Amino acid sequence: MTLTFYGHATLGIQIDKIHIIVDPFISGNPKAAHIDIKNLKADYILITHAHQDHILDVETIAQQTGATIVSNYEIATYYENKGFKVHPMNHGGKWNFDFGTLKYVNAIHTSSFPDGTYGGQPGGFVLTALGKAIYIAGDTALTYDMKLIPLETTLDLAILPIGDNFTMGIDAAVIASDFVACHSVLGYHFDTFGFIEIDHDKAKDAFSNKGKTLQLLDIGERLEL
Ligand code: NI
Ligand code: MN
Repeated sequence: MTLTFYGHATLGIQIDKIHIIVDPFISGNPKAAHIDIKNLKADYILITHAHQDHILDVETIAQQTGATIVSNYEIATYYENKGFKVHPMNHGGKWNFDFGTLKYVNAIHTSSFPDGTYGGQPGGFVLTALGKAIYIAGDTALTYDMKLIPLETTLDLAILPIGDNFTMGIDAAVIASDFVACHSVLGYHFDTFGFIEIDHDKAKDAFSNKGKTLQLLDIGERLEL
């Protein structure tokens, strides 16, 4: 499994020949100006919730790739009504896709579309494929529900928001990594705009002080799992 960080909360995941894009927000992110979304491959687009900074490029990418949009029922229906291919899920449910298994899990956040349309309840994903498991938290507060994840799945990587203000901050993310029983963390949802700027060294120290590893990728950088 190869992960690519495209800035903010946008991830590329390649599993064999299948390409997945998570929460595409690239064209609106000046820090990701060097990423050309025309070059992105996608068989699936996963959406954690309906906020602008997670869905901005969904339609562009879905149009150019024919990708299937996977999200909660309300978000999936919103895109289905616009003619896109979708796979609706809801909290606690999992499905075996051709790339592996996805489970839609709880997040504490909100989820309206930019125009105010109801976007269901926000979530995250647990993705299992090729013998590896990752947790994509989405935008969320620290929540006890995270403790449910390791009851079913041994994670190899937890992808956690660390920018604070709209989501968990660094200290809460350290606790979250305990809750999900995964000491290897990829941070996301930081530095994109003023409210979520972080000190990278302090963030890494907060994790290493607890015997954990926080990775922060440059935009466009990859991680092999
Ligand atoms: Ni959000
Ligand atoms: Mn967000």
